[in-house]
Amino acid sequence: AIALIVTGALAYLLGSVPFGVLVTRLMGLGDLRKIGSGNIGATNVLRTGNKAAAFATLVLDGGKGAVAVLIARSMAGEDAAQLAGLAAFVGHIFPVWLKFNGGKGVATFLGTLLALAFPVGLAACATWLVTALIFRYSSLSALVAALLSMPWAWAFGHGDLVTLIFILATLVFVRHKPNIERLKAGTEPKIGAKK
Ligand code: G3P
Repeated sequence: AIALIVTGALAYLLGSVPFGVLVTRLMGLGDLRKIGSGNIGATNVLRTGNKAAAFATLVLDGGKGAVAVLIARSMAGEDAAQLAGLAAFVGHIFPVWLKFNGGKGVATFLGTLLALAFPVGLAACATWLVTALIFRYSSLSALVAALLSMPWAWAFGHGDLVTLIFILATLVFVRHKPNIERLKAGTEPKIGAKK
């Protein structure tokens, strides 16, 4: 139990690092919370016009979820790995450093999934990409990828992950409430648009 608590706490702390805010500030691109949607994710970093910064944010926010899972797995096994995935994800959307008001969890969700079950993560990333190529909305792609991750998990023999994925996907949907409203109203900006 101690190992679970330690790796879970570590995962939360890792997940709570707001790389989008840090990368944007370090690259002199301004205060991310005052840009576009105000969200701390890669999609919003792209609204600064700097693709490298957005890419770095995507990789770092995904990477922190993956690293949290891999550390927990090597220290304490598969249950700890799942708990760490959840903790890193929760850290990203409720980070203590930003008064618990963090991101929407998409990159961290995908990174976590890649580390938990690579084929499932890959299928989720592909789902995001295909939806984005067709519709050009980051938020819609995230919602579709989150939803389809459950059937993907079953399809790849990872029924053990479905409960966790259900929790993560639910939180992704909750965090995208404003995006869902905008999608319905037809006012959601397409990927790369300034606003
Ligand atoms: O990854 C978050 C994305 O799905 C939506 O971001 O900035 O358009 O609200 P944003």
